[in-house]
Amino acid sequence: MSSYRLRSFSHWLLALFLTFTAAGQLAAQDEAKVSQAGVTPGAAAAAAPAAAAGSAAGAGDPAVIQAGDALFKANCAQCHAVKDVVVGPALAGIDKRRPLPWIVKWVQNSSKMVASGDEYAVKIFNQYQKQQMPSFALSDAEITSIVAWVKSEEGKTNPLGGGGEQVAGKETGGQTAATDEAGAGKYVNVVLIVLIVVLIVLVVTLVIIANIMKDVLRGRKDLDGRDVEILEQKTDWMSILKSGWFKGTVGTLFVLVVLYESIQGIMAVGLSQGYQPAQPIAFSHKLHAGEHQINCAYCHTSVYKSKSANIPSANICMNCHSQIKTTSPEIKKIYRAIQRQQPIQWVRIHNLPDLAYFNHSQHTQVGGIECQTCHGPIEKMDVVYQYSALTMGWCINCHRETPLNTKGNGYYDNLVKLHNEANAGAPFTVSSNGGTECSKCHY
Ligand code: HEC
Ligand code: HEC
Ligand code: HEC
Ligand code: HEC
Ligand code: HEC
Ligand code: HEC
Repeated sequence: MSSYRLRSFSHWLLALFLTFTAAGQLAAQDEAKVSQAGVTPGAAAAAAPAAAAGSAAGAGDPAVIQAGDALFKANCAQCHAVKDVVVGPALAGIDKRRPLPWIVKWVQNSSKMVASGDEYAVKIFNQYQKQQMPSFALSDAEITSIVAWVKSEEGKTNPLGGGGEQVAGKETGGQTAATDEAGAGKYVNVVLIVLIVVLIVLVVTLVIIANIMKDVLRGRKDLDGRDVEILEQKTDWMSILKSGWFKGTVGTLFVLVVLYESIQGIMAVGLSQGYQPAQPIAFSHKLHAGEHQINCAYCHTSVYKSKSANIPSANICMNCHSQIKTTSPEIKKIYRAIQRQQPIQWVRIHNLPDLAYFNHSQHTQVGGIECQTCHGPIEKMDVVYQYSALTMGWCINCHRETPLNTKGNGYYDNLVKLHNEANAGAPFTVSSNGGTECSKCHY
């Protein structure tokens, strides 16, 4: 066996070792990035601006910031947030827009400033529909501490993923979750790449070992003809590639995959099963209908009475949220919608084409079908998605299989009797009553 081969083998081992160390370091770096960006969002980012805020207005002092936090929550939070417009403007950057003495005078008596004709005060007063901000008997130091707190909050990312124009926009907590997931996904990718590298390394190692053993065997003199033949055997890749069965298998597989994908594509036209759009407010059915067991019809008031199940107006939310979680940024979006006299722009999920007629009360009240049969485990969903396919086949299958509740309903007595005579024992289903006639569901 040649020493050349041995030397190249040891070089190869060295290269292998280096690759592993490099891959390991990459993975470790990625992990570090993920835990920074995903698990503790904004913590690192927040540290910098807070430190930078130190110089101005005695703001760096944590005690001052804490006092400002408490004062803000007690006096200002019902109308202001740092990054969101609530009733009043978002306060982020206020120390840059206005000098501190101005802010102090404004908070102590804003209407006096508007009356005095201060240009900025008049402008913002008009911009906010001439709503008067109340006067506060706060000292200069107290107002300064509120400004310091606002400043310390500016750099932080909103844990609920809010910001900007949320009533019309589609920002929800879901997006923060998505970035976290992306982080986790990246980590999985790194692990996968490392695994693939390990596999390749294993295969190459095996091939090399086999070659070394062949070399050793070739050096031996006592091999007979058959052994030599096996030793020199080669895989003839070209003839395999050219063989009919190989081409046939690949061709058939290709055609099958294309066919399958096309059929799936055609069948899915107009379907939106699984559709789960982001909603403008991070409203959770899991929290309301699940944990707090609020009845579906408390909000979807018409679901037992009429064709459609309505989506609750903001007033229904206010039955509770005028008291509950009043400072949550998500709840403030409800206040803002009311204040602007605009409905919350929920994104519609279920939507049959106009050619089909579906009536909720007929199914929930008369048929006694649970919401979950059609809508799935809504009470476990943080964000609602379309659970059923909502195809014609889906409607009709259920009508064929579901026995009609005819007990104690004189209207059906004669019908059921005739049905039983004609169809010895087959249950009286919705379709027996004409539930699969085209005109029942089509206008
Ligand atoms: C009842 C609602 C309400 C409360 C409570 C309230 N504000 Fe305001 N604030 C407003 C409104 C509305 C405006 C916009 C100007 C106007 O219409 O008077 C405003 C404007 C401001 C501005 C000017 C903002 C800018 O971007 O120029 C500052 C600063 C401010 N408020 C600070 C405070 C502080 C500090 C508190 C708590 C001590 C507070 N506000 C409490 C409603 C309120
Ligand atoms: C506290 C009020 C509230 C309660 C209780 C509630 N919902 Fe909702 N529901 C809403 C709101 C608001 C929406 C619109 C936002 C969304 O899709 O999450 C909605 C949306 C839906 C949708 C999707 C509507 C569409 O756009 O197609 C379904 C289905 C639904 N709810 C079913 C239920 C069921 C079933 C229950 C009881 C287990 C229930 N809801 C309880 C408030 C409520
Ligand atoms: C019957 C009472 C009730 C009604 C009606 C109600 N909620 Fe709630 N909501 C609650 C309770 C209770 C909580 C949980 C509070 C907690 O976790 O401390 C909550 C929490 C929330 C939260 C999470 C807030 C946060 O920051 O943690 C949002 C968002 C929310 N509700 C939106 C809505 C919307 C939108 C409506 C109207 C469609 C609505 N709620 C109607 C009782 C209600
Ligand atoms: C037999 C199946 C079925 C049952 C049971 C059912 N739904 Fe629906 N639901 C649908 C279909 C289909 C739509 C789409 C209707 C449309 O687009 O016209 C829908 C739509 C909705 C919507 C959106 C608003 C609307 O009316 O289009 C809400 C909210 C809703 N359902 C709530 C409920 C609640 C709450 C219950 C239980 C009390 C319930 N559903 C029971 C099939 C069902
Ligand atoms: C989970 C089972 C189920 C599904 C899914 C379902 N239905 Fe029904 N449907 C029923 C039952 C049960 C009745 C009978 C109610 C009664 O009168 O007692 C009914 C009755 C009806 C009727 C009245 C039939 C008649 O003879 O008067 C119409 C129309 C109807 N459904 C339309 C639809 C449409 C459209 C869909 C699909 C979007 C649908 N249904 C999906 C169970 C279902
Ligand atoms: C139980 C209710 C129901 C009955 C009965 C019913 N359909 Fe439908 N049909 C639907 C629904 C719901 C849709 C819409 C589903 C979709 O978009 O995939 C639909 C869609 C259709 C469409 C349009 C398909 C498309 O993609 O635009 C045609 C055509 C149609 N039905 C014909 C019929 C005929 C003909 C009959 C009688 C033999 C019939 N339907 C009976 C519920 C029904």
